[in-house]
Amino acid sequence: MPAAMLTLPRPVPPQRFRAPKKNVPQTLIERTHILERCRAYVAEHKPVPPLPAADLKVHADRLIAELECDPIYRDYIGVLLNNELWREQLAGVPFERRLLLLPKCLRVESKCPAPFDEFGLLCKQCGLCSIQDLQAEAERLGYAVLVAEGSAIVMSLIQTGKIEAIVGVSCISVLERAFPYMEAAAIPGVAIPLLQDDCIDTTVDLDWIWDYIHLTSDDQTRRLDLSQSREEVDFWFTPLNLDMIMGPAEGQSEKIARDWLCRAGKRWRPFLTVAAYQALRTSPGAPLPEDLRKVAVAVECFHKASLIHDDIEDNDAARYGEKTLHEEYGVGVALNVGDLLIGEGYRLLASCRASAEQKAEMLRVAAEGQRELCRGQGAELCWARNPEPLSSLDVIDIFRKKTAPAFSVALKIGAIYAGQLDEVDEVLSAYSEALGIAYQIRDDLSDLGESGETNDIEGLRPSLLLATAFERAKDDQKTQLEAHWRRLSTSTSAEIEALFIELKADERCRDLLERYKEEAIRSLVDVENANLKGLLRRVIGKIFNDTEIKGWCKEFENGAPKAAVV
Ligand code: IPE
Ligand code: IPE
Ligand code: MG
Ligand code: MG
Repeated sequence: MPAAMLTLPRPVPPQRFRAPKKNVPQTLIERTHILERCRAYVAEHKPVPPLPAADLKVHADRLIAELECDPIYRDYIGVLLNNELWREQLAGVPFERRLLLLPKCLRVESKCPAPFDEFGLLCKQCGLCSIQDLQAEAERLGYAVLVAEGSAIVMSLIQTGKIEAIVGVSCISVLERAFPYMEAAAIPGVAIPLLQDDCIDTTVDLDWIWDYIHLTSDDQTRRLDLSQSREEVDFWFTPLNLDMIMGPAEGQSEKIARDWLCRAGKRWRPFLTVAAYQALRTSPGAPLPEDLRKVAVAVECFHKASLIHDDIEDNDAARYGEKTLHEEYGVGVALNVGDLLIGEGYRLLASCRASAEQKAEMLRVAAEGQRELCRGQGAELCWARNPEPLSSLDVIDIFRKKTAPAFSVALKIGAIYAGQLDEVDEVLSAYSEALGIAYQIRDDLSDLGESGETNDIEGLRPSLLLATAFERAKDDQKTQLEAHWRRLSTSTSAEIEALFIELKADERCRDLLERYKEEAIRSLVDVENANLKGLLRRVIGKIFNDTEIKGWCKEFENGAPKAAVV
């Protein structure tokens, strides 16, 4: 026990009859024994966090078998294992970037004088429970402390980048609900399970909390701030900043190309290049090398060129709420600007400061990606010359070919620039494939209900919604959809969309989207580099905006609990 602990008055546990809690071992000896075995297990097997819940359960089951203990402790053991996985990374986060999250049920409910505000309980330091001591000690170290649960504020704190690790105290059921959010954020988090889960006058192993809040290490590498990186990358796409790395634009075609690069876009691909570089580089604290910009802009040049050509191929008149390039300048000029941007991408890669081997690798990866993408686009375009119904697997295969390469190129070029491609080549391929498919499924789903600028339903492209609906349809509906596939249809897109809904094609596509997101996460299972694993896990949450909080603890879903003594 740390010395400081001895100087603190120990809270008196509430005296009342407690129903024994089934899923937490009730004796300290048992709990300590399990904790030690969890530590030994993680030290031996070294699983790399974040682990999805299903994987954690597999490890928990193994340990249960080894310990020959009651399987009702599976969730409890899962929590302890997860803590151990994160232990080292938590220790590397400075105190002032950590959050201590305590549940209000630790208070002595009948006597607690503390009021609540929107952030949770405002401890009055009456000394009746352990909250005061824990809060005071954590704040002394520099922690932010919240006595609240289920609060969206926790996730928003994570998103602002101010909080990089969490020490949480909670009952097992709340922990289970919070887990997916923590896992998706890949945030170092340790949780100390309450010894009861009846939401009143609960108790906890205080020494465990104490140990966790004091954990430190010399390695204080900062967690990657993805929002900051994204903003920075965005900033590179202004005319002035592009001129700085590309030289002044000469002639009208170059000006159109620069303008197109600056116009709009989510910048996911250059962001991925930068993020992969940051996760893999060997000197994490150093400033970003200047030429990383060139490399990232090159990646966006390839992508933007593919969009110009795609809009011509798809005969789309609008992108980013404006005219497409061929609509504005004619097909000839647009084609040429696309070609120019491909050349610019190669020029930037070839001129950046990197070893000859690295440059050769970057050029190889870019060329291979371009080839794959053109094969994918080609499969779609050649199909469109004589369209016939496609299975959902056929459509997914087109997605794999046309959309995954740009993600793969982005990540791999970042990895090459960090000098680490060999170690991660395979995993980046598998991850990009699943990510690309999920991304394109979402793009398809976004066509639903809008007569949008690139509506694949109207445009008669190989749509996953159409393929899924066709697989489910019978009789007249099948005939109607087949006519639509073959462009012989007289149905309006509103009628086709109504059929999609009736046949639940949208639900099926949403399921598939989730499946491919999960596959992307699963592809990370053997990644040994915790930085890269955490980064790639977080990217899924960011791209698909999976941060909606549904409430962890029912008591706190609508602010302060009603039973609060104010
Ligand atoms: C468009 O990609 C092409 C697809 C793969 C759907 P984005 O939607 O990422 O395009 P930008 O980068 O934001 O323009
Ligand atoms: C995007 O395909 C183009 C590439 C993958 C190169 P789509 O044609 O489906 O994308 P949007 O809807 O036009 O952006
Ligand atoms: Mg298109
Ligand atoms: Mg297209």
